[in-house]
Amino acid sequence: MAYMGSKAIDIERMPRGGPNASCLDRLLETDRLEYLDRDDVDEGVKRSVIRALEWTGEKFGQTENFARIALDEVADVADPKILELGAGHGGLSRKLLDWHPTAELTVTDIEAESVAAMAASDLGEHPRATVRKMDATAIDAPDSHFDLAVFALSFHHLPPSLAARVIADGTRAAGKLLIIDLPRPPWPLHLVRLATMLPFAPWIPFVHDGVISSLRTYSPSALRVLAEHAGADVELRGGLVSPQVVVASARR
Ligand SMILES: C[S@@+](CC[C@H](N)C(=O)[O-])C[C@H]1O[C@@H](n2cnc3c(N)ncnc32)[C@H](O)[C@@H]1O
Repeated sequence: MAYMGSKAIDIERMPRGGPNASCLDRLLETDRLEYLDRDDVDEGVKRSVIRALEWTGEKFGQTENFARIALDEVADVADPKILELGAGHGGLSRKLLDWHPTAELTVTDIEAESVAAMAASDLGEHPRATVRKMDATAIDAPDSHFDLAVFALSFHHLPPSLAARVIADGTRAAGKLLIIDLPRPPWPLHLVRLATMLPFAPWIPFVHDGVISSLRTYSPSALRVLAEHAGADVELRGGLVSPQVVVASARR
């Protein structure tokens, strides 16, 4: 249970739009899984989604934008230790290693195939990078081991109880947890976004996963409830059309 003011909230049943989500917002939600989360999907389909994420991130400047946001959070740390969770292709870690001369990166994902692909890439050879498998809900590191943990475009994959666990464990293992995820716009705008993607979803795996991501992304109020449940303080930024940025730290 999370307690917001005097109200107890059952987070497992909380809509992605938060406890006070409108009826229409509650309809824009799904239990369907993305290809990336399914075990019954051909590995080639999943790799195509990961490659498309890497390509769009580079092409549209998102990777650079996320790297800038992450580096701002460790601007006062001389040699930051950074953990990337759910790294997928490792593009963000690669950018952080390029831009920061001394940052040490632990680059992780829960999917063995993604970890193997990143380890076989330049990241596997990089003297300041360690590539390994890790579940963001059970971070294998001592308390405060990292200055920053980053979880980009991945938080919506998790149901509320696991999402809250990421906040709790991320803020335990790192001084700050940075979550960057898709915005959850008000329902009319959300409908427009879905309408532009839906015709392509049956044919393009990346768009299929994009539609489900859009329906599963959390609203700012839901993020606050999850942080409260995890006992963390949060600062929320962005979010209407730009990605949502959450900076969480353990409440001391
Ligand atoms: C949409 S991809 C995002 C990849 C990359 N971060 C990006 O910004 O393009 C989501 C990633 O989260 C990973 N993931 C899902 N659940 C996870 C968990 N519990 N722990 C760690 N990674 C997870 C998936 O394997 C996938 O690589």
